[in-house]
Parts: sequence; C-alpha cells; structure tokens
Amino acid sequence: MGCGFVLKAAHIKTLDNREIPIKPDRFNRDVMFSSKSEEWATPDHVFKALDEEFRFTLDPCATPENAKCDKFFTKADNGLIQDWGGERVFMNPPYGAKVGRWVRKAVNESLKPGTVVVCLLYSKTGTRWFHNYCSPHGMIWFIKGRLTFGGAEHPAPYDSMIVIFPKDWKDRL
Ligand SMILES: C[S@@+](CC[C@H](N)C(=O)[O-])C[C@H]1O[C@@H](n2cnc3c(N)ncnc32)[C@H](O)[C@@H]1O
Repeated sequence: MGCGFVLKAAHIKTLDNREIPIKPDRFNRDVMFSSKSEEWATPDHVFKALDEEFRFTLDPCATPENAKCDKFFTKADNGLIQDWGGERVFMNPPYGAKVGRWVRKAVNESLKPGTVVVCLLYSKTGTRWFHNYCSPHGMIWFIKGRLTFGGAEHPAPYDSMIVIFPKDWKDRL
C-alpha cells in the first residue's frame, strides 16, 4: 500500500516506524477545543464571494456583532427552532456535538419553497451527518487550503467545505 502516517496521541508514527514527536500547538488546540471556537467568524473574503452568488437574507447562527445578514438569529432565539422558509440562508454553525442537528435543520428547511441554505462546515466526511445529509442532499464544494477564521491567529486545523441545500439550488435563485 502507499505511504502515510499513523497518528497517535503524542507523536506521529511513520510507516518505517520512526516516531516524530508533535508539539501541542501543532493541532492548534485553542481552535479545536476552546469554547471560544463557537464564535469563530466566517472569513470576510469567503462570505463576500458566496454572497455575490447567493445574496443572503438570513444568518441563523449569530450574535448581533458577527451577524452576516440584517436578519439573524442568536442563541437566545435558538435558530434551530426558527422558520427559515423562503430565505437565502448562510449558515456557519457553532461547531461541536450539535453540528449534525444544524445540518439536519438545513436540509429540512431547504425543502420549503424558495429556500436555499449554504453551509460552511468542517470537512468531516466520516461523520453520520455527512453521510446522512450532505452527501445525499447537498452540492458540496471542498475548499482548497485551510481557512483562518475571524478571531483566530492561525489557520484552522481542519479542512472546510461549502454544502448547498438543495442540490438543484440554481433553479431557486
Ligand atoms: C461559528 S459562529 C458564526 C458567526 C457568524 N454568523 C459568521 O458566520 O461569522 C456561530 C454562531 O452561532 C451562535 N449560536 C450558538 N448557538 C446558537 C443557536 N442555538 N441559535 C443561533 N445562534 C447560535 C454563536 O453565538 C455564534 O455566534
């Protein structure tokens, strides 16, 4: 088989059995595990490029300070229980265990007439939510390179992707 790495907790073991120690910050633990990561904002250039195509009308995961649209929902509103029908939605959800709920909500809302939901997500292609929702129902654009989110000093330690629901969104714009 080809070459690669086997990743362990504190070192990388190469296929020829060399062990390469890794520094804690190699995985940018601040970004991965800090509760602050819920607030990492979409990079402006990414939002601008998408907004030129989609002309977003709703940001369902926001604070008044980081909202990308005039219409937005905050944690207090709980965007997960709101109606997104008829909107062009830009969704960069809080990452963590609840991402699957946000992606399921995005699919369900995109079934409503005139609704398009564009999601910025980490590219976790082994998750249930990827296989249950993104792969069957979305158009997926994998992003080349890693994004530096607003408020972060370094690029994220994961790849990102744009997932658009429904797949035939072009008919709705
Ligand atoms: C990754 S940030 C995205 C911020 C901004 N919308 C953007 O794209 O840059 C996710 C946001 O969702 C908010 N949030 C967390 N839980 C929420 C909920 N249940 N309903 C609405 N917003 C929520 C967080 O406060 C945070 O501001």
